[in-house]
Amino acid sequence: MLAAVPPPVTVRVPAKINLHLAVGPLRSDGYHELVTVFHAVSLFDEVSVEVSDAPGIEVHGEGVSEVPADETNLAWRAVQLLAERADRDPDVRLVLRKGIPVAGGMAGGSADAAAALVGLSALWKLDLGRDELSVLAAELGSDVTFALYGGTAVGTGRGEQIVPVLSRHTQHWVIALHRGGLATPQVFRELDRLRGDNGPTERPVEPVLEALGGGDPRQLALSLGNDLQAAAVSMAPELRRTLRAGVGAGALAGLVSGSGPTCAFLCSDAEAAMDVAAELAGVGVCRTVRVAHGPVPGARVVDQHEPP
Ligand code: C5P
Repeated sequence: MLAAVPPPVTVRVPAKINLHLAVGPLRSDGYHELVTVFHAVSLFDEVSVEVSDAPGIEVHGEGVSEVPADETNLAWRAVQLLAERADRDPDVRLVLRKGIPVAGGMAGGSADAAAALVGLSALWKLDLGRDELSVLAAELGSDVTFALYGGTAVGTGRGEQIVPVLSRHTQHWVIALHRGGLATPQVFRELDRLRGDNGPTERPVEPVLEALGGGDPRQLALSLGNDLQAAAVSMAPELRRTLRAGVGAGALAGLVSGSGPTCAFLCSDAEAAMDVAAELAGVGVCRTVRVAHGPVPGARVVDQHEPP
C-alpha cells in the first residue's frame, strides 16, 4: 500500500527589531560578541512546505527580485540541514510569501529559515520541540533561533543564545522602510572602522529590561539603543532625516532596526502609532511605513489541513 502524502503545512513567522544592541569585540570566528534584546513585531512572512516531486523554493511578495530562489536561500539550507539530520531526501517544495522587508535589518531571511524548520518538522512528523530545533537554527544564522521563539528575549553569544524576557505590555511601533538594503557584514565592518582602536563603549542592558518589566513606553523610549545605528547612518546618511522625522511626527523615540536601513519608532499607544505613520508617510523620508505591535509569538504552524 502507498503511504498517504501528508497535507501541506503553512507557518507564520514574525520580523524582529532590536530594542537594545550592544556590539562587543570582533571574535576570531568573524562574528562579534553581542548583548541584544530581540522583540518580535507583527510583520509576518508565511512559509508553506509540501511534499513534491519537483523539490525547490519559490518566493512571492514585495522585494522578491532580491531574494534568491535557489539552494543559496537560507530557508532552503534549513530544509537541507533538517533532511540530513532526519536522514531523508529533501523532496519538498517551499513557498515563501514575504511580508517582512527584504535586507531591512528585520531578520526576514532568518525568519524564513526558522519557519522552514518548524514547517518541515511538522510535515514529516518529526516531533521536534523548539529547543531541539534551536540547535539547528544556531547553525544556520545568528537570528534564526530567536525567530523560533519570538516574544521578547535577550540574545547573547553571536545572538543565538536566547533567554525570554518578561514584557508586560504590548508596545506600538511605526516601521519606516527604505529603498535598497544594507548588507549586515558591511555594517559590522563599518562599526569596527568607526571604532578604530577604541574598544566598544558601555551600553548596559538593565535599563531596557526594567522598562520592559514596567511596561511604560515612555520609560522604554529612554532606554532604546543600537550600536549598529552609527554605522548604518554612516553608510546611509539619509537615515538621520528619517529618525528626526519620526520623532518630529510624535513618536517617543526612534532607532535603526538591527543593521538597518529600516527604522522603528516607539509610540505611546495604537492611536498615536496611526497618527505618526500617517504624518511620516507624508514627509517623503522613506519608501513606505507600516504600523506594528509587539511582542508577538515566533514561528507557528497556522494551517495543516488534513484531507477530507
Ligand atoms: O549569522 P548571520 O549569517 O546572520 O550573520 C551575518 C553576518 O553578520 C556575519 O557573517 C558577520 O559578518 C555579521 N555578524 C557579526 N556578529 C554577529 C552577528 C553577525 O559580525 N554577532
